[in-house]
Amino acid sequence: MVSVSTTMNLLSPLSLLLISVLLSYTGSAILCNGRVIKDDLAGFQKIDLPGVIGPESLAFDCHGEGPYASVSDGRILKWNATSKAWKEFAVTSPNRDRKACDGSTDPNKETCGRPLGIKFDSKTCNLYIADAYFGLHVVGPSGGVAEELATSADDGVPFNFLNGLDVDAQTGVVYFSDSSTLYKFRDWPKILGGKDKTGRR
Ligand SMILES: *[C@@H]1O[C@H](CO)[C@@H](O)[C@H](O)[C@H]1NC(C)=O
Repeated sequence: MVSVSTTMNLLSPLSLLLISVLLSYTGSAILCNGRVIKDDLAGFQKIDLPGVIGPESLAFDCHGEGPYASVSDGRILKWNATSKAWKEFAVTSPNRDRKACDGSTDPNKETCGRPLGIKFDSKTCNLYIADAYFGLHVVGPSGGVAEELATSADDGVPFNFLNGLDVDAQTGVVYFSDSSTLYKFRDWPKILGGKDKTGRR
């Protein structure tokens, strides 16, 4: 059983502006809990995404593989550094319409899901997912359709716009933010423009 709590909402989806992933991966890089701790910095290169945009979060798994990216069409993609290709790793809804969703860059397609914060639990290798439209999910190390964990907090107020997520490597406690009780992900500029303070703690 994983204990879950919401944290102060300090995250805004500014990284939606990114359209591609920047990543260093050279033969000399050593990955430790997702951090490059030794690198000659000579191998920086841009990795283009396959038609989608908005790699909101990047994560590396227990074996240092990845990155995994949560992207605009509702999927979580995994980068294979050997074949230099992205492959679908997970989705957050069993009912996701592949024809309508795959490759989409439209933030209004709620039924595609929109994973934002993603992070692996370093002990279990499970991936926790904050999906802006579908709530808190988790998926096992081999991916697939993620399992719904929660769609509201203890007070019964539904999650409206889950955003950032982190997992305490020692305790496994999952922390995440809900950016607004008023606005959905697709309306995120209104949160910034309207001084909305309903983000969840
Ligand atoms: C990466 O791609 C290569 C070549 O297709 C394949 O042999 C390998 O198993 C893949 N690695 C992972 C971790 O999927």
